[in-house]
Amino acid sequence: MENSLQIVFATGNLHKVHEVNEIAKGSGVSFILPPEGFDPLENGETFERNSYIKAKEAAILSDSISLADDSGLCVEALNGEPGIFSARYDSTPQKRIDKLLANLAPFGNRNAKFVCAMTLVDGNGEIIHQVTAECRGKISKVQSGSNGFGYDPIFIPDGYTMTIAQMSDELKNSISHRGKALRMMIEYIQKNLI
Ligand code: IMP
Repeated sequence: MENSLQIVFATGNLHKVHEVNEIAKGSGVSFILPPEGFDPLENGETFERNSYIKAKEAAILSDSISLADDSGLCVEALNGEPGIFSARYDSTPQKRIDKLLANLAPFGNRNAKFVCAMTLVDGNGEIIHQVTAECRGKISKVQSGSNGFGYDPIFIPDGYTMTIAQMSDELKNSISHRGKALRMMIEYIQKNLI
């Protein structure tokens, strides 16, 4: 590719960097992990604010254009929980799934959505662009599948009969909140930055 741009992706989660590089393949944009010491204090009250906090910390550390996502699962019958607390809902991924299924058991309404906010900042931590995307679906009664991470084994996207954890990476990326947000962000970067 003639024009290309390497961007720091503000996460400690290698799985996420792999996922965003898969989605960005062929776009001219690629992502690398932040330098050692990346440990932002995610104390914002929205996905947008937390993605900005992470992007800014990575930009200041690396002195480079940085992108961050902040994502989570919002369950309608639980008033949007676990939401921004998705990663901290309990101490392990399996305990988080068990807790969510137990809390949702009394309800007939199993509607839920994954949300992903992304913020792109320059090397000084100033916001260049921000997007938010969703993937709507339902929480299954039992968990199935072993692909992906987090709440994937209990989330059935609208229009499908399997959980995200039963999907290939390609299918997940084509419908996921993160896939949608990243494609919008890449379109912006291609038009304005490379
Ligand atoms: P973040 O890394 O601060 O954005 O934390 C998001 C948390 O939300 C993750 O630790 C997962 O528990 C959950 N989550 C976000 N995106 C996904 C996804 O694509 N699949 C499953 N769980 C997700």
